[in-house]
Amino acid sequence: MLIFNTQKDLISHLNSISNLDTSIGFVPTMGALHQGHLSLLKEALLKNSIVVTSIFVNPTQFNNPEDLAKYPRTLEKDVEKIKSISDKIIVYAPSVDDIYDGQTVSKHFDFDGLENQMEGKFRPGHFDGVGTIVKRLFEIVKPNFAYFGEKDFQQLQIIKKMVTKLEIPVTIIGCPIHREPNGLAMSSRNERLTREERKEAAIIFQILKQSQKLFKTKSATVVTEWVKKAFEKKPNFQLEYFQIADEDTLLPCIKKSKIKKYRAFIAVFVNKIRLIDTISLN
Ligand code: PAF
Repeated sequence: MLIFNTQKDLISHLNSISNLDTSIGFVPTMGALHQGHLSLLKEALLKNSIVVTSIFVNPTQFNNPEDLAKYPRTLEKDVEKIKSISDKIIVYAPSVDDIYDGQTVSKHFDFDGLENQMEGKFRPGHFDGVGTIVKRLFEIVKPNFAYFGEKDFQQLQIIKKMVTKLEIPVTIIGCPIHREPNGLAMSSRNERLTREERKEAAIIFQILKQSQKLFKTKSATVVTEWVKKAFEKKPNFQLEYFQIADEDTLLPCIKKSKIKKYRAFIAVFVNKIRLIDTISLN
């Protein structure tokens, strides 16, 4: 399996194997790979003759230095997991300098307001960091297709917006959330939960499913109040936000419309670990 640490080497290899008939599928990650990531890679392998994945913990998308410092870094294990599905996948695992060339700062993006909701409100600068790294990786890898998980649904919508606005020639594919047997959405951050916390965190998806049921007959405000109360009874959980929003604009649902698609979005701290999840409501 080929692993490149510099963009120069990766680009020269990709140039040597690409032609008009090849299609590059790309899965950007921050490592600590789980079944969710592996399913993105499998999806990419189905459609593309070349599959590239990046493993890079991007400093500019972290607004909390402790979160960045504690983010799991498990390159060797990640490489083994990738190998277990195919030894043809090309890995790009750059240093911060290879990406940022001494200037570890974000560019500023206008995502037509998508960046101001939910994660954007609670993690200032986060989506500028995501936009900066994903645009940079697209310039390096030049993929035909790029794969992102729906757990980060806001990120997925923002990346689709970015490629449309900046006319980047790549098709963005959103893939379904992978869950642990107890319903907890798979996330690299789950590695930081204790066994007990991991068990208890099943409540997040249970509450989302309940909110999906309630939303059939109740307003977004009533459902939101119900979710807030449900978390008040859970001392180890601190709800950061619960928002029912229009899937396209990500604006909060004020009055239900039959022609719109809605989704519930949630961010919760389990002790100090921040988890997010989402569910489609109609
Ligand atoms: O979703 C992630 O893991 C990251 O935000 C991404 C897209 C790899 C950019 O660093």
